[in-house]
Amino acid sequence: MDFLDISKQRYTTKHYNPTRKISDKDMKDLLEVLRLAPSAVNIQPWHFYVGSTQNAKEKILPAIPDFNIPRIQDCSHFVVLCSKTKMTDQELSAITQKEDKDGRYPKSEIRDTVDSHRKIFAHMHEDQGDFSQWTAKQTYIAMSALLYAAASKGIDSTPIEGMDFDKTDDILNLKNKNLKSVMIVALGYRADNDSNADRPKSRLNSDEVFSSID
Ligand SMILES: Cc1cc2nc3c(=O)[nH]c(=O)nc-3n(C[C@H](O)[C@H](O)[C@H](O)COP(=O)(O)O)c2cc1C
Repeated sequence: MDFLDISKQRYTTKHYNPTRKISDKDMKDLLEVLRLAPSAVNIQPWHFYVGSTQNAKEKILPAIPDFNIPRIQDCSHFVVLCSKTKMTDQELSAITQKEDKDGRYPKSEIRDTVDSHRKIFAHMHEDQGDFSQWTAKQTYIAMSALLYAAASKGIDSTPIEGMDFDKTDDILNLKNKNLKSVMIVALGYRADNDSNADRPKSRLNSDEVFSSID
C-alpha cells in the first residue's frame, strides 16, 4: 500500500478485539522495524519492552490511568518504548565496534572520525543538560515507524503518552538501567464497535502547516 494511503487509513484505536492476536511473524517484523529505526549519529538510545501475556498486562496496568486501561487490557501486544538517560563512552564505542563489524568502515580513519563525532554530540547534550530529552526525541522516531509499519500490515495501534512514567520506571526497574519510559504503543486488531474506526481524519489545512521559503 502507498505510504500516503497508509497515512490516511491508520488511526488511533480505542478498543481492541481481545480474541485476535498478532502472529509471531508479524510481531517479529514490527520489532525489526523498531530495531532499524534511524537516530542521530546512529546512537540508538533506546530499549523496548514487549508484553502480550495477561501477566505482563497486569504488571503494567498500575501505571495506566483509567481512560487508557481498555487499550492495554484488550490489545494483542504492547511495547514500552524507553530511552537512555546516560551513556558511557564504552557504550558509545560499542556502537562504533558494531558498525565496524557490520562492514561500514573500509578505512579505520573514517571509523575513528565517526566514533569521535558521536561522542562529541553525546557529550554536548550531557553538558547542555538535555541528554534525556535528546534521546527521547530519537525514541519518538522509532514510535512513528512502528505505527506506520503496523498499519501497513493491517495491524491497529494506539500511541500512549497517558501513563504514569515514574510508576512505569519503577515497575520495569528502569532507573537502575539508566533508562526511562517514553511511551507505550498498544498493538492489535480493532473491536467491531471501536468508536474511532469510522471517524473521518481531521488535521489542520495545508496552508496552516506549510510555508514556502523563497
Ligand atoms: C505521542 C502521542 C501520545 C498519545 N497518547 C494517547 C493516549 O494516551 N491515549 C489515547 O487514546 N491516544 C493517544 N494518542 C492519540 C492521539 O490522540 C491521536 O494520534 C490524534 O488525536 C490523531 O488521531 P489519529 O491518530 O486517529 O489520526 C497519542 C498520540 C501521540 C502521537
